[in-house]
Amino acid sequence: MTRGADGGRVWAVPIRIGSLAGFCSGVRSAVGVAMEAAKRQPCASLGPLIHNPQVLEMLRREGVTVADNPDRIASGTVVIRSHGVSREMIERCERRGLEIADATCVCVKRLHELVASSKVPVCIVGQADHPEVKGTAGWCAGDVYIVDSVESVAGVPRLEEALAVAQTTIPPPLFQAVTEALRARVGKLVVRNTVCLATTRRQEEASGLAAWADAMIVVGGFDSQNTRKLYETCKALCPRTWQVESAGDIPEGLNPARENIGITAGASTPDWVLKEVVNRMNDIEQNAPVTQQAPVETQETESASFLKDMEATLVPIRPGQTITGTVVQVTEDEVCVNIGYKSDGLVKRNDLVSKDVHVGDEIDVEVVKVNDGEGNVLLSQRNVVSRKNWDALMARFDEGGYVEGVGREAVKGGLIANVLGVRAFIPASQLSQRYVEKIEDFVGKPMKLKIIEVDKTKKRIVCSRKQVIAEEATSKKKEAWAKLAEGEIITGTVRRLTDFGAFVDVGGVDGLVHVTDLSWGHIKHPGDVVQPNQEIRVKILSLDQERDRIQLGYKQTQPRPWEIAEEKYLPGSIVEGKVVRITTFGAFVELEPGLDGLVHISQCALSRIAKVEDAVQVGQSVRVKVLGVDTVAKRISLSIRAVLEDEAFMYSDEIPGEAFENDGLGMDGLGEAEGVAGS
Ligand code: F3S
Repeated sequence: MTRGADGGRVWAVPIRIGSLAGFCSGVRSAVGVAMEAAKRQPCASLGPLIHNPQVLEMLRREGVTVADNPDRIASGTVVIRSHGVSREMIERCERRGLEIADATCVCVKRLHELVASSKVPVCIVGQADHPEVKGTAGWCAGDVYIVDSVESVAGVPRLEEALAVAQTTIPPPLFQAVTEALRARVGKLVVRNTVCLATTRRQEEASGLAAWADAMIVVGGFDSQNTRKLYETCKALCPRTWQVESAGDIPEGLNPARENIGITAGASTPDWVLKEVVNRMNDIEQNAPVTQQAPVETQETESASFLKDMEATLVPIRPGQTITGTVVQVTEDEVCVNIGYKSDGLVKRNDLVSKDVHVGDEIDVEVVKVNDGEGNVLLSQRNVVSRKNWDALMARFDEGGYVEGVGREAVKGGLIANVLGVRAFIPASQLSQRYVEKIEDFVGKPMKLKIIEVDKTKKRIVCSRKQVIAEEATSKKKEAWAKLAEGEIITGTVRRLTDFGAFVDVGGVDGLVHVTDLSWGHIKHPGDVVQPNQEIRVKILSLDQERDRIQLGYKQTQPRPWEIAEEKYLPGSIVEGKVVRITTFGAFVELEPGLDGLVHISQCALSRIAKVEDAVQVGQSVRVKVLGVDTVAKRISLSIRAVLEDEAFMYSDEIPGEAFENDGLGMDGLGEAEGVAGS
């Protein structure tokens, strides 16, 4: 067997079987309850348990008889079928001393609870003669009106207020149309949609199949209203639709080899009947001699295996057990889940964690109570999620990992945070590496935490944010150290300056550029060379991870002044410098940090001077002419006198009456002028 793209089961193309065909969870549960009850003592159901003759026959053979009222049951167990019964009927059974095996479908039970708690008149949208509607009406405390169409609403008197509910198996559009009509007659109408989605989904799936098929077969008991509705839905879309109760009813003339055939089944049709129909269609397709209707013996074998299958699927459950179930109904207050037990389980909204659940979804639930006193299995999805989260937190705790939390409330001494739904306390001293003045600032903030203490009994944890920050800084530092190597030149950012140097961040760790390594020349303060936040290239001079010391050099990334002095200071060029030292034989002029030249005393002035100070002072800026550069001896000869002579010469050109005529010859003209001046 394979599955078609539309989710339908595909036995042999072109036969398609609806994936939702067959027993619904309520019917499956009812058959299971009856079979279990019949094992213990004589057992009878109040009315046919299911509208399917084959299943009824099988149940009869297992000891489940049918009685139309409790007075006809001598003793033993009475099985309440999935349609449910009125409160009065339950009381009658109790009065007769019968043991009650309540197989009322959870969807119907919810309907009973709704109408029983209503303080206002109840309008049931459904068929008055349907057992479910009759039973539901019997749970109403006050007035009850049953309407089955928009027209029948006229029979409802004008009411101030009322509650409208639906028979679980009516089509949703009908419920909507009737409640709309009811609003015109009722001042304040509260509408609770109690339609069972299992039916709706089966109808929708059948419609899709019928639209595709050339011929449709709807399998189910002729007494089953639900199967009848399915048949009518299909017939409207596919005129060649037949309802069959068994394989023997399949009409002649169908040819799966030449036409598309769709098969669906009502909620009361067991798998084995559906299987027989499918096998017969396959036989027809393969042109094999068609076997006559399966003899009773075969049916018995099938039903026996069905019984075994049923029993195998009815799992025993116990409180605390986690089970994967399938959502079969979703209402405003609760979700009904098929857990393979004889009755479905209920998850109340506040026990549900998934915000968006749909019929057919699989969810993990924990059994809270096998029987809440009304025959319901109580389930919780929250318990499962909480347990999983707690286990995950404990695993994180054991491995020393971090968890994510959100601040919830500032309390005395710290902060309460939510960590995966678990209450965590963070002492104020563990919030930050610095003193925290306003703990409230952390409320609503997500944060990374480390679990430092666990109270397994109270399911509480104590966490630290401070440890996370410290550990992250350490590992960042480690990473940064791993990237550093002596001799490398890297980029860093100046963080702060001190008298003895500049601290530079080199990727998460700070290194020091000593003041003597900032410049090739002499500087008074690091601020003379670099500024905070400035990005600079530095050379790693030495690394000492143990003492956490990184020695960096800035000047080492710059060329040494003497290396380029020859190219930079060409003889004859005039530059500016500062007198930094005076000796008896001359003045030392700093051209740039680390590069001083000497102006010999004879070159300090135009005329002869007795001492250097007669011409220049320390700190004075002077213009000097480069006379020569000796990089080997590291000497630069400079002259102030040569500059003054040049200036005097230029000045003489401007003496009134002696100016030469500028004939526009440019440098040639100037050359002539120089010649004149020099003569
Ligand atoms: Fe079945 Fe219960 Fe819905 S009996 S059709 S699941 S109301």
